[in-house]
Amino acid sequence: VEPPRSLSLSCGVHPVTLTATFEGGKDGFLAAIDGRPIFICTERRLAKILAPLVSHMMEWCPGAVLVTFPAGERLKTRASKERLEDRLLESGADRRSLLVVLGGGVVTDLVGFTAGTYQRGIPFVSVPTSLVAMEDAAIGGKTGVNTTRGKNLVGLFHPPAAVIAPLDTLETLPGREFRAGLAECLKHGLIADSAYFAWLAARSPARIRRDPEALWQMVSTSMTIKCRVVGEDPLERSGRRNILNVGHTVGHALERLSDYRTGHGDAVASGLLWEAAAAVLEGHLRKEDLDAIAEVMGTYGFPGLWREADPDRLAEAARWDKKNRSSKIAYVPLAGLGRVALPPPHTTDLTPGLLREARILLEGR
Ligand SMILES: NC(=O)c1ccc[n+]([C@@H]2O[C@H](COP(=O)([O-])OP(=O)(O)OC[C@H]3O[C@@H](n4cnc5c(N)ncnc54)[C@H](O)[C@@H]3O)[C@@H](O)[C@H]2O)c1
Ligand SMILES: [Zn+2]
Repeated sequence: VEPPRSLSLSCGVHPVTLTATFEGGKDGFLAAIDGRPIFICTERRLAKILAPLVSHMMEWCPGAVLVTFPAGERLKTRASKERLEDRLLESGADRRSLLVVLGGGVVTDLVGFTAGTYQRGIPFVSVPTSLVAMEDAAIGGKTGVNTTRGKNLVGLFHPPAAVIAPLDTLETLPGREFRAGLAECLKHGLIADSAYFAWLAARSPARIRRDPEALWQMVSTSMTIKCRVVGEDPLERSGRRNILNVGHTVGHALERLSDYRTGHGDAVASGLLWEAAAAVLEGHLRKEDLDAIAEVMGTYGFPGLWREADPDRLAEAARWDKKNRSSKIAYVPLAGLGRVALPPPHTTDLTPGLLREARILLEGR
């Protein structure tokens, strides 16, 4: 079957559209812009890689201004935001203007935050171009930057006017970045959709990338799950959104221990395994389910980062997690391949002892 050309979703805070090609999403894009003067903000490198897409935008919106800058996780900072603000002021962006954010999660977080405070807040439209940005970073309205003390510590809740995700932009995404998104896809299956997890488990990253229909299936399913969970708790009141943090307590700690040299996706993959082992020890999850998760992580080529990490240093690093209350470490245990164990806020303690035992369980497999 031909893949559908576009899928419209909502996450309760803003609309989200997945389109097979950027050109195919022209009407939706122009409706989202709503006749405002636009400033296309993107990474310098990406403006070259996605030159045809940028040309289309410029043609469709006469008078559009292109603002490019170097990006990357290390440049997701207040200093970069300030530089971007100065560029926008010099280019004449005013309160009627709209920012179009083109890029991965770093650019969407940085430019979304900038839009949120520029002249007390102007609208932006997000055009995510990485797998992580499409199914995660661009959805839900959270924006922000890193500081030397940690990631995403300064920011705003500033939802985009719309998210328009063109699937064809993924063609140029490096394999390593694609894999980063796959960790979140596997997480989506594990927290909410056993059939999706089984579907992923029966495939390989290469096979999914090669097959446009499979890619459509995967991205649309993950976007739908993220939208649904955000929609159930748009302002993060009930703690429902914590299910999106499965694998992330240990994952974030692994990133922190590596001084952020480890990729987020690789860290989350090991985090999912380590936390699943803890859930087995606590009687929430069956051992067979842990084995199934471990097998997929192998097939997908994720490095076993958990092997190198010292549980006590990991526990120390995990104390910084934003889910924590007081000095305890919280995590979200799974109950099966497709569901979490506890009601909202879904969290329970991850003690250093449990971390150590979970590690022993993983080693003994
Ligand atoms: N706000 C949120 O709710 C939220 C959620 C998840 C992640 N995030 C943030 O997202 C960021 C990670 O996002 P990311 O993985 O997209 O990182 P990223 O923006 O750095 O993109 C990864 C790399 O891929 C390149 N790239 C992007 N699209 C491309 C394309 N189509 N073709 C070729 N290259 C392309 C980028 O230039 C970059 O080198 C982190 O900073 C994280 O904190 C935010
Ligand atoms: Zn993540």
